[in-house]
Amino acid sequence: MSVQSTIRRKTAPDIRARKGGDPIVMLTSYHAHTASLVDRYCDVILVGDSLGNVMHGFETTVPVTLEMMILQGHAVMRGSQHALVVVDMPFGSYEASKEQAFHSAARILKETHCGAVKLEGGVRMAETIAFLTQRGIPVMGHIGLTPQSINTLGSFRAQGREEGSWEPIEADARAVAEAGAFSVVVEAVAEPLGRKVTEIIPIPTIGIGASAACDGQVLVLEDMLGLSPKPPKFVKRYGELGPGIEAAIKGYAEEVRSRAFPGPEHVYGMKKS
Ligand code: KIV
Repeated sequence: MSVQSTIRRKTAPDIRARKGGDPIVMLTSYHAHTASLVDRYCDVILVGDSLGNVMHGFETTVPVTLEMMILQGHAVMRGSQHALVVVDMPFGSYEASKEQAFHSAARILKETHCGAVKLEGGVRMAETIAFLTQRGIPVMGHIGLTPQSINTLGSFRAQGREEGSWEPIEADARAVAEAGAFSVVVEAVAEPLGRKVTEIIPIPTIGIGASAACDGQVLVLEDMLGLSPKPPKFVKRYGELGPGIEAAIKGYAEEVRSRAFPGPEHVYGMKKS
């Protein structure tokens, strides 16, 4: 008897086939519990290296390690059943050589059982993307603003807002598609550029601060839930969970201090003998 699951998860080819079709819905998640909620409504769950900011309080994603990504990727796989889970390759785990990238990506796939990896960079990473995809590793690209390059960029500024600055980003989009990526995140670019990139490449674009014309959209879950103190301009807050969480914590602290909690219903009586 087969022990394989009867539930079929979405795959990278399923997402690739959505070019020009119904919008692809993607959110980040880093835990089993939030993954099970996101899984009900989203096509793709991204275990983003933004977990460095959200979970660990780092100012940038640069300090995030492969071990952190694998640990949270595994948790998200356990919490979800239907969505394609994509795990970010963290800074320093893939840039040195295509062999280094293969070794890191293979660890991510083997140790988390996720369906794809994401890495930042266009033209400069094309050879690596081709190397990985030719060896069985589905790759989602990431162009436009690439947060792992913060130390060379200097700031998290939107890209392509001056006429004449579009060419390198268009070249990045083409390079990622030609290298065999199944889709590409386009982050923080001028809206007409996000639209144009979507028109000129044959793979789905997933926008974040890009354009409504992209083939899909992604946001960081904690940003859209209203839990991040200073989210970027492109974030729409679909919830304001911060005050609700604070009220619950305040209520708990007050009841512990006044001995109102635990009540009789929260403690164990003796068994009748
Ligand atoms: O790490 C992340 O959450 C991301 C998204 C912003 C696309 O890469």
